[in-house]
Amino acid sequence: MPREILVTSALPYANGAIHLGHIVEHVQSDLWVRAMRMAGHKVHYVCADDAHGTSIMLRAEHEGIMPQALIEGVWKQHTADLSDFGVRYDHYSTTDSAANRELTYQIWRALEKNGHVESRPVKQLFDPERQMFLPDRFIKGECPVCHSKDQYGDACEACGSTYNPMDLIEPYSVVSGAKPVERESRHFFVKLADFEVLLKSWLEERRAAGGLQSEVVNKLQEWFADGLRSWDVSRDAPYFGFEIPDQPGKYFYVWVDAPIGYLAAFKELCESKRGGLTPLDFERFTRVDADDTELVHFIGKDIIYFHTLFWPAMLHGAGLRMPTAVNVHGFLTVDGAKMSKSRGTFVNARTYLDHLDADYLRYYLASMLGPTLADIDLDLKAFEERVNSHLVGKWVNIASRCAGFVHKHFDGKLAEELPAAERARYAAAAEKLAACAALYESRDYAAAMRTIIEVADEANAYVAEHAPWVLAKDQSRRDELHVVLTLALNYFRLLTIWLTPVVPATAVRALAFLGDAPDRFDAALMPLLGHAIEPFQPLATRIDPKQVAAMIEASKESLQVSSNPSPPILPVEGEGPKARASASPGPESRVPDPGSSGPGVRVPGPDVISIDDFAKLDLRIARVDVCEFVEGSDKLLRFELDAGELGRRQIFSGIKAAYPEPSELVGRNVVFIANLAPRKMRFGLSEGMILSAGIGGNSLFLLDVDPGATPGMPVK
Ligand code: 2FM
Ligand code: ZN
Repeated sequence: MPREILVTSALPYANGAIHLGHIVEHVQSDLWVRAMRMAGHKVHYVCADDAHGTSIMLRAEHEGIMPQALIEGVWKQHTADLSDFGVRYDHYSTTDSAANRELTYQIWRALEKNGHVESRPVKQLFDPERQMFLPDRFIKGECPVCHSKDQYGDACEACGSTYNPMDLIEPYSVVSGAKPVERESRHFFVKLADFEVLLKSWLEERRAAGGLQSEVVNKLQEWFADGLRSWDVSRDAPYFGFEIPDQPGKYFYVWVDAPIGYLAAFKELCESKRGGLTPLDFERFTRVDADDTELVHFIGKDIIYFHTLFWPAMLHGAGLRMPTAVNVHGFLTVDGAKMSKSRGTFVNARTYLDHLDADYLRYYLASMLGPTLADIDLDLKAFEERVNSHLVGKWVNIASRCAGFVHKHFDGKLAEELPAAERARYAAAAEKLAACAALYESRDYAAAMRTIIEVADEANAYVAEHAPWVLAKDQSRRDELHVVLTLALNYFRLLTIWLTPVVPATAVRALAFLGDAPDRFDAALMPLLGHAIEPFQPLATRIDPKQVAAMIEASKESLQVSSNPSPPILPVEGEGPKARASASPGPESRVPDPGSSGPGVRVPGPDVISIDDFAKLDLRIARVDVCEFVEGSDKLLRFELDAGELGRRQIFSGIKAAYPEPSELVGRNVVFIANLAPRKMRFGLSEGMILSAGIGGNSLFLLDVDPGATPGMPVK
């Protein structure tokens, strides 16, 4: 029976680029959507940027722009990156939309009306300088247990202890550096205890129906042990988000309107009347008794609680349907370790695309993805070998070896018929591949890829055994040759149809070569006979290891700080190991999320480096000889430095907001990186980077050196 399904991927934060961690998830869901459509189901596929929260507010401030301008620019990059990876949303919105505001208010009012909201005063640390309450991750200080410096307000990365931010020794605000003070404020809470019984039965029911993985449900059971505490859903101004109705200065916590953004994006799609939808369809997917439609989410394992406790509770409390399925995947690692900026394995989607074909990674990920929460490793050597061996060697090669003979000897046409033995071979292969429909549906893509490659091996064995290049030399064996080529190219077509969800762009080219455009798996049941094919064009080329190396190198390069410093990596509210270790969601539990890294990737904490890594940096003292404004730039100052034995250096530095009187810097000493690759800028060559502390904007502080240090001295 054809099903009608609304599918979503977790909404990427609008404060950073799409990277390969995101790609795991968006490709996983895109592949599922394509496969379900090819199996005959009707699927609507939406996503959006997750545009609210403290990080985005501060980043915009750092860049000196309005948050709306920031998220608009990021939206353009995100949609281009995802689309170039073949991820085809029917609609990609933003949570900062009118539709989302309206829906958030509607859900909120229903929760209030149904008695699920309470408010009470909460004590929190406050930045007296920046005049804002500080999420735990925006406070740092000395760990009260092991005394490591610069630990976050919720947990120590050195010893693993979790604590209250108020327990930190000498705490400071990450935003301004000021010492936080305790302050009280009234917060709003959703009473999760109201939903305990409902959630428990929903979890079990979904597990039984295959809508939740057992691992997920087992994990969640722990949270019920002490009863569910209320969830703190408000934040005080200043905050970039939706103001709570009738509560001036109080905003919805980003995690309230983020999942509502799934539905708001779908509402916009319905209202646009695209894809045969009408505004009435929104109801069919959201009303509490909706049973002929499905709501399926794809998420990373770090945001389980939001999607399987808070989100269903909010939906039910507001009288709406709960999700049909929440499919959870693991994190992406690269070469067996978490993605690392210093090793160049933290690869942005765009950097990948600058060097390699999107379908290659899609295939590799499919070959690794199963229906579990296991992490997925991008082993760069295996990636190269698998693409070259499977896609190029076993799939595309069938066509490239046969096409020329069809054109040369048969006028580009396949045989009208196949003998019984060949028909039987084709039917067996088609039947074997038909099992992939269920494998795709259950998200066991790795098993589907294994099946496809087994059939590709059979096809290649058939071609090798019948050697068309030998047959072609014998005029008397033309019919035999025609049969062999026809079956080989039908094998190729079969494989192409079943690979279409995985490598859609390459499949389109492959099918164009065959002069065919099937959009359903069942087109594979019958072979193409008596059919004209097009001249063969190369469909995929082997990966050269140099391409991979160049991508890794470029990922390292993107770390080289330009003279206009890139925005700081701010922690994201909601992130933190404390909550990961916590047994039940309470007001102070900021449940884990992947931080600025998006779904499916471990948060890029500062990697430990060796002394040799540090030694690579040539840090030097220099004296400022010239410091002036740069015409046409509102961020940069131009420095001419006397660097002693290294001579003179010109450096552009993005610290104008912090140093509005450049002449005051002339004559002072600074610390700079002398061996950073020179960078050509619009205004001239920048030959190094001057170091400053702080988060950016007007909160930047040049490093000082004690008297006695002279230009050119190394800093060790
Ligand atoms: O973890 C994240 O990257 C969040 N931006 C995901 C939000 S998903 C949904 F709830 F909106
Ligand atoms: Zn510690």
